[in-house]
Amino acid sequence: MNDSIREIAGDLKAYLEYLKEMGIDELPFIKEADKPTKRGQPLPAPQIQTLTEIRMELGECTRCKLHGTRKTIVFGEGNPNAKLMFIGEGPGFDEDVQGRPFVGKAGQLLTKIIEAINLRREDVYIANIIKCRPPQNRNPEPDEIKPCNPFLLKQIAAIRPKIICALGTFAAQSLLQTETKISALRGKFYDVGGIKIMPTYHPAFLLRNPERKRDVWEDMKKIAEELKTA
Ligand code: URA
Repeated sequence: MNDSIREIAGDLKAYLEYLKEMGIDELPFIKEADKPTKRGQPLPAPQIQTLTEIRMELGECTRCKLHGTRKTIVFGEGNPNAKLMFIGEGPGFDEDVQGRPFVGKAGQLLTKIIEAINLRREDVYIANIIKCRPPQNRNPEPDEIKPCNPFLLKQIAAIRPKIICALGTFAAQSLLQTETKISALRGKFYDVGGIKIMPTYHPAFLLRNPERKRDVWEDMKKIAEELKTA
């Protein structure tokens, strides 16, 4: 993992720890208008942006070079109050065309995985580390991840999921700030700022390695169990 990715992952970890310390209910993202004035007016209660506000702030994003090749921004979708959030790597061909996360072959498998624990796609929230498709589905680069990261953090703060399922190596290593292989990371919860992160294999990997579906099923059962008390 290179230094920029490490730095971004560090930001995420520090931010989530901050959320925890703050008690997660009343949270940051103080809007410009809410900042204390020079005359020292009392600080109003900090506000979290809603998903709609975050989407508006993102706009027709040109913060990185992917804007030149993408068709559509894939912001994320699902229940704004989801207890369970899935985070993948970034949009592929189908997602770029439709503007929705996980709608291609891997996405269809993710839908089945969600339904296997008696939830529907609409019950959870699905997003990615980056919101625009890299050309030829290459790995996202640090200068693409960095400007995107604050928006994912704001989405997490708005949704306040109890559990984040990190799909695949890239999402898991980014969220957990580690270089450990997904095969060693998966199957365990990692507490980051009061949110439980469960890394598991990416559905695209499962399409190539169907024998690993059993592992994902084991991970999903742990998530389902944890959701009972969430
Ligand atoms: N793979 C991902 O990581 N995310 C998507 O949205 C689709 C495929």
